[in-house]
Amino acid sequence: MDRTLVIVKPDGVERGLVGEIIGRFEAKGLRIVAAELRNVSREVAERHYFEHRDKPFYSDLVEFITRSPALAMVLEGPKDTYKVVRTLMGTTNPADAAPGTIRGDLGVEMTENLVHGSDSPDSAAREIAIFFPELG
Ligand code: RTP
Ligand code: MG
Repeated sequence: MDRTLVIVKPDGVERGLVGEIIGRFEAKGLRIVAAELRNVSREVAERHYFEHRDKPFYSDLVEFITRSPALAMVLEGPKDTYKVVRTLMGTTNPADAAPGTIRGDLGVEMTENLVHGSDSPDSAAREIAIFFPELG
């Protein structure tokens, strides 16, 4: 089995889309291993988004992910579960994301794209350790 980190971002929680989003992952066949609604601290946000620290959108991203509660969770499934999650999420910009994906069906704005999914097995391990160190 393989695990990956998923976050329903503040916009998804604010808009009442947690059930809709988790339901898609569950319906696909992924299992929830851990889940917690929490305020992401600035420190955790900066560790999580370290790879983007030099990007022009970095400060907006940290502001966004810390502005109100987010639902962090670990999902489990077959090999390369991170890819299954990323396919269900759709491309980064919701305006371009395909219909049938979470971002394609539910969003229109770039930063406010509802959901985060780890982008590789290494990212999954790193991000799970940040959000759920007790699973390590
Ligand atoms: P995520 O990390 O949240 O799963 O999203 P992703 O892999 O599809 O996209 P990534 O390139 O890792 O970017 C992380 C988040 O930064 C915001 N972003 N804004 N304004 C921009 O050009 C821009 N580019 C990225 C998005 O919220 C994206 O999810
Ligand atoms: Mg990413």
